[in-house]
Amino acid sequence: MNRIRTAIASILMLGAFILVPKASSSYGVEVNHLGFNNTLVRITGEGRYVLLPIQESNDDARIAILADGKTDRTINVKLAKSKVDYFVPLDLAPYKGHNVLLNIVTTQDRSNIREAEDDACWKNIILDDTFDTSNREKFRPVFHHTPLYGWMNDPNGMFYKDGVWHLYYQWNPYGSKWQNMAWGHSSSKDLLTWEHHPVAIEANGLGTVFSGSSVVDVKNTAGFGENAVVALYTSADVSQIQSLAHSTDDGQRFEIYPANPVITLDSEARDPNMFWDADNNCWVLSLAHAIDHEMLFFTSPDLKDWTLQSSFGKGSGAQGGVWECPDLFKLKVDGTDEEKWVLVCNINPGGPFGGSATQYFIGDFDGKTFRADTDVSGNIPTKWMDYGKDHYATVSWSDSPDNRRTLIGWMSNWQYAAEVPTIQYRSANTLPREAGLFKAADGQIYMSSAPSPELIALRDRQVVKINNKSVGKKAREFSLPVTNDGVCEILLDIDCKKSVSVDIKISNKENECVTLIYNIPDHTLSFDRRESGIVDFSLDFPAVTVAPTFENDNKIALRIFIDKSSMEVFGNDGKFVMTNLVFPTEPYSTLSISAHGGSAKIRSLKVFSIKEL
Ligand code: FRU
Repeated sequence: MNRIRTAIASILMLGAFILVPKASSSYGVEVNHLGFNNTLVRITGEGRYVLLPIQESNDDARIAILADGKTDRTINVKLAKSKVDYFVPLDLAPYKGHNVLLNIVTTQDRSNIREAEDDACWKNIILDDTFDTSNREKFRPVFHHTPLYGWMNDPNGMFYKDGVWHLYYQWNPYGSKWQNMAWGHSSSKDLLTWEHHPVAIEANGLGTVFSGSSVVDVKNTAGFGENAVVALYTSADVSQIQSLAHSTDDGQRFEIYPANPVITLDSEARDPNMFWDADNNCWVLSLAHAIDHEMLFFTSPDLKDWTLQSSFGKGSGAQGGVWECPDLFKLKVDGTDEEKWVLVCNINPGGPFGGSATQYFIGDFDGKTFRADTDVSGNIPTKWMDYGKDHYATVSWSDSPDNRRTLIGWMSNWQYAAEVPTIQYRSANTLPREAGLFKAADGQIYMSSAPSPELIALRDRQVVKINNKSVGKKAREFSLPVTNDGVCEILLDIDCKKSVSVDIKISNKENECVTLIYNIPDHTLSFDRRESGIVDFSLDFPAVTVAPTFENDNKIALRIFIDKSSMEVFGNDGKFVMTNLVFPTEPYSTLSISAHGGSAKIRSLKVFSIKEL
């Protein structure tokens, strides 16, 4: 009994000890430990950002941001315990003139408050007017879009207006892994260089901000004003519901619609994608009914009231994973006046080489219902937009100029996106591409994705120029531009009538290489990255991907873009594409070409270095 009393007394004494708050201060902040796992940080100084110290390997701390005593939002951040790997900024601009307090709950194991005080984060947290975003990553691409810092997945909400391409993306500004989803924002006048803007839409009480789309409401159907930009996105919390927001400053800041949500369903549905249907004078929206493996179609006169019209997908195409990020648009079939509809359907996992990929269906849409074309045996064929491992969540810009259908995708794969060897930023987007349709030898219509015309402006010096040279078993070798870290564009036109296969090897002095093999009888091109450099961060990364070449004359024309940690191979004007990440420990410096089972003719080979952007 006595022992119990003594124990209770010492617990009470310990409690008294714990309850005495202990304050300390770094520049501009006052830190007050309330207990082992709970600390208040009050902003006492002037400064635009609180710089939060991060330790990658640590568990998340939950930070509630209070303005004048009211919780505005909550974020999860890996606050540093034993060492600081890097900082992330918490922007205080939206709270100017308000009293800001951070109520932080950490999950770190500690036995007393003194240990909590020792955490590296409290000693290093600081207020500052600037945050250094200069590049620290050797693998950061130079002509692909990347976030300045933080984790990125899907591009979404893209629209074109007054000469500017707006690109939003799924962004975690507070770390290098997926969480705290918000819409990051960048814009470009040339699709090559990107200006970075403050976060466009952030989480609110309905949830974090998942993917969606934006349109320019030219006719003011929603009542927010002519040419207001209207966005629809998924608010994700315990449920996934669809929310509206609008912007009257060309997409810089969005106001959240107070009557949200505008669509609710009783199972996971996300990534609303809308367009104006001029034939039927209404808005059309596609929504991924993720685990039901179908896309739902809604219509609306005003972007606020949506009526469910139909669904498509159950049992069609690839069904291996959840269906996400739809897009629906009409295109002309090359060389004809025939118009067909393309339904884009991103799927994860279940892609042809594991993990995420983009499938699409060709068919007809009457304003309410999508019907897919079938093959000769009456089945709906599975078609892939890209035959690499790193092409996902691809959708198109609304209101692109000149009737263009310009697409961009996330250049990674959910299998290993969080493990790739970068930290300051994680993930880039693919190069922008122009969608088209063509009829192949099997009588089917397929989608092509050719590099956007703007990419021509990347070319700097032509460092290799070869015409009409034959090649056999002995490889012909060419140097790639090592200045500018080997970043380049390769154009290779080969006639392979007399050979069985052609090997195209891109390698560096460390013997790291990517091997492309054009298999003539099979009409395929394979991309082997098993020895491409750093591959051991995930068992799913080393891989060989294979694309059909859609040719029947044994000729192949490749356009290959190498940008530090990616290789995109466009074949025969975009009839097939392969997008794959690579992490060479030093830039690739040699291109070698050899032919097997006979000789091949290099009709033309051009290598361009890339301009400083
Ligand atoms: C696709 C996706 C979307 C979702 C978003 C969340 O990669 O899973 O379905 O909106 O990412 O970040």
